[in-house]
Amino acid sequence: MNRITISQAAAHTGETVEIAGWLYNLRSSGKICFPQVRDGSGIMQCVAVKAVLGDEAFEKLKRLTQESSLVLRGKLRAEQRAPGGFEMDVDAFDILQRVPEETPYPITPKEHGPDFLLDHRHLWIRSRRQHAILKIRHEVVKAVRDYFDSHGFTLCDTPIFTPAACEGTTTLFEVDYFEDEKVYLTQSGQLYNEATAAAFGKVYTFGPTFRAEKSKTRRHLTEFWMVEPEMAYATLEDVKNVAEEMICFVVSRVLENRRAELAILERDLTRLESVKAPFPRMSYDQAVEILKKKGSPIEWGGDFGGTDETLLSEEFDRPLMVDRFPMQIKAFYFEPDAQRPELALGVDLLAPEGYGEIVGGGQRIHDYNLLLQRIKEHHLPQQAFEWYLDLRRYGSVPHAGFGMGIERCVTWICGIDHLRETIPFPRMLYRTKP
Ligand code: 4AD
Ligand code: MG
Repeated sequence: MNRITISQAAAHTGETVEIAGWLYNLRSSGKICFPQVRDGSGIMQCVAVKAVLGDEAFEKLKRLTQESSLVLRGKLRAEQRAPGGFEMDVDAFDILQRVPEETPYPITPKEHGPDFLLDHRHLWIRSRRQHAILKIRHEVVKAVRDYFDSHGFTLCDTPIFTPAACEGTTTLFEVDYFEDEKVYLTQSGQLYNEATAAAFGKVYTFGPTFRAEKSKTRRHLTEFWMVEPEMAYATLEDVKNVAEEMICFVVSRVLENRRAELAILERDLTRLESVKAPFPRMSYDQAVEILKKKGSPIEWGGDFGGTDETLLSEEFDRPLMVDRFPMQIKAFYFEPDAQRPELALGVDLLAPEGYGEIVGGGQRIHDYNLLLQRIKEHHLPQQAFEWYLDLRRYGSVPHAGFGMGIERCVTWICGIDHLRETIPFPRMLYRTKP
């Protein structure tokens, strides 16, 4: 028997095939029943007739419980009204495991609260919406990799256990290593990217990163995935151009390949279609002026809050780039602006529709003495940064890069409320299970 995935149905119309999946839904009326089966690649509506299957088998199927696993055999037929456009006329089936009536599948078509669903995340990911979001996540990850792979970047993975902080000591997770040694879960692969960029020119890393964020917001995870490119002989302007091009590439890929999933999420496609270069650009100074006019309590020197980011981005139909932040709110490694050394050559990219910062990056200090001074000013342990200082001792060059949080990007592209749905198993302030 020719086993196919439901997504391959179009190529097998009129053939008798086998599909293997789980019972998603079932309607029945007398001598006919309509099991809907999902197999991860799609949903197939099946038609089972008592006269074909015989009394006993028909009753068995008709009484089958939600999410029971089964294999079905039958002939495929095009049917416009069916969910995926095809129907199977069932000849035979095997049940692998029947979910007992006494312990029914906990997620039913009725409304469940977010805590209940998160507690059942291991099952919730089977639902249509969650499935669509995670399919889009895969597309985003693939597009990001394709973008860098086809633009001369070499993938260089960076370590997760690290001896020092990259993004400030307040959000570090400490881990007991061997022999009383302490290490930290990485906040960013950037410092290592700077080393590999001096070896390969253009590099990227893509992996999990960790922040001990005490913030319980819709935008914060304690474990998230970040893609970080880094380029030798590059400046802040290069970062802006690459980020812009990469994001346009990613959005167009999702529009090309994930229409069905965007439709399940009822995403307004015109919002995504307007994501085209050039993106609007402004300085931190200008942003603060705009925010004050809009009634924000921000003062020059302060960081943007979530509301500020929304106020700024609501003016535009595509991502906004804000650059040259006050040095005091930025990490130790930022190159100062030559004209105004109180400003950091950094850029944040704010997604439209109030989704906030999705990219942060900029130009790094390449002068040895200035970097050493900053390490001291930030009370960072110089010993742990000696290898990083080496990069300024041996052939230092202007270099720059950025990081994009995958979950922030997917949340925006999907147009959903909370980034916890964009990762299979979210880790947040009050959630480390399942
Ligand atoms: O702006 P951040 O902190 O920048 C860095 O870590 C740089 N070292 C990156 C680099 O230049 N190589 O973080 C970058 C991005 C943010 O714009 C956001 O998308 C995401 O990482 N991010 C988070 N996503 C989810 N939960 C959190 N707690 C996040 N913190 C940052
Ligand atoms: Mg940032």
